[in-house]
Amino acid sequence: MTRHWTIRQAPRMDGRLALVTGATGGLGYQTALGLASRGARVILTGRNPDKGLAALTRLQLDAPGADATFRLLDVSSLESIATFAHALAGETDRLDVLVNNAGVMGTPHRMETRDGFEMQFGTNFLGPFALTARLRPLLCAVPHGGRVVTVASLAALTGQIVFDDLQARRRYAPFRAYRQSKLADLILALELDRQTRTHGWPLHSIAAHPGWARTDIATSRLNTEQGLQERLTRIGAVWAFRLMGQSAAHGALPIEFAAMAPEARDGGYYGPSGQGERRGHVTDAFVPAAARDLTIARRLWQVAERLTGTSLS
Ligand SMILES: NC(=O)c1ccc[n+]([C@@H]2O[C@H](COP(=O)([O-])OP(=O)(O)OC[C@H]3O[C@@H](n4cnc5c(N)ncnc54)[C@H](OP(=O)(O)O)[C@@H]3O)[C@@H](O)[C@H]2O)c1
Repeated sequence: MTRHWTIRQAPRMDGRLALVTGATGGLGYQTALGLASRGARVILTGRNPDKGLAALTRLQLDAPGADATFRLLDVSSLESIATFAHALAGETDRLDVLVNNAGVMGTPHRMETRDGFEMQFGTNFLGPFALTARLRPLLCAVPHGGRVVTVASLAALTGQIVFDDLQARRRYAPFRAYRQSKLADLILALELDRQTRTHGWPLHSIAAHPGWARTDIATSRLNTEQGLQERLTRIGAVWAFRLMGQSAAHGALPIEFAAMAPEARDGGYYGPSGQGERRGHVTDAFVPAAARDLTIARRLWQVAERLTGTSLS
């Protein structure tokens, strides 16, 4: 059902604590701004302190009086995630909203996180998995249940979980690895919803995607060394996003809807309503068959628990 939903329709979030990963720019910043403008206390997180400071300064201009802080959190590092979660648990007894937004796209060459995971799989999926597992007690301490919003992508539609080469050691292709990581994000959101129902946790797991939004994600690695085919794919993506994409503020609406709207359903997936879900108003997004496959979900869950040393079941 298409809704002409805007941030003004979101409920007041006064007294609620929200955390957004990768909030120093793009969709993460816009989501943090939306939450702050509705009165939430927002923790913007990121891996670059200078960008964090700049984002806070910008937020104060965009939403004067906003209650916001910046904290270092590198979601590609299990150590950073554990340290961050431990510190947060010492400061608050509940977390109302967690938005797993931080992500990287199309790393030109196969790169690894410091834990030895392929960069996109580690940053876009294993990191959010571990963070959610570590913050679950705080989210479940919210009387009406905390919300976990996972940012997936249209790329999930053509993604495949390659279980016998999850870390792309045998064969690496930048956008293939991205598609896998984003399908894994959608599976994370849907399986977390099922685990939540099974265990009776007070938790709400919802997924969202922004369609095509004009952010730094496509342009940030444009000038890095890469093969002709990858470079053409990236240039094509940049132009497609420029010509047919929407603003970051619009792209963030499905994410903000998932984070705040009372009508957002547990286990729901929201995106833009226009052709191909590339732009438009907030609506229910299409869930590909691979994301609904329980065998894939259970297997991925076990792998993620083993690799991250955290438990979400
Ligand atoms: N833009 C789109 O059209 C689109 C479409 C589908 C899905 N998405 C998804 O939307 C999310 C946000 O992307 P965006 O378009 O807003 O891109 P963006 O402008 O590049 O922003 C990404 C954010 O994530 C942060 N980040 C990257 N790696 C990180 C790490 N290891 N730890 C902490 N923060 C990290 C970045 O920080 P730095 O500046 O320090 O790198 C930045 O703040 C991603 O999950 C992406 O897959 C975007």
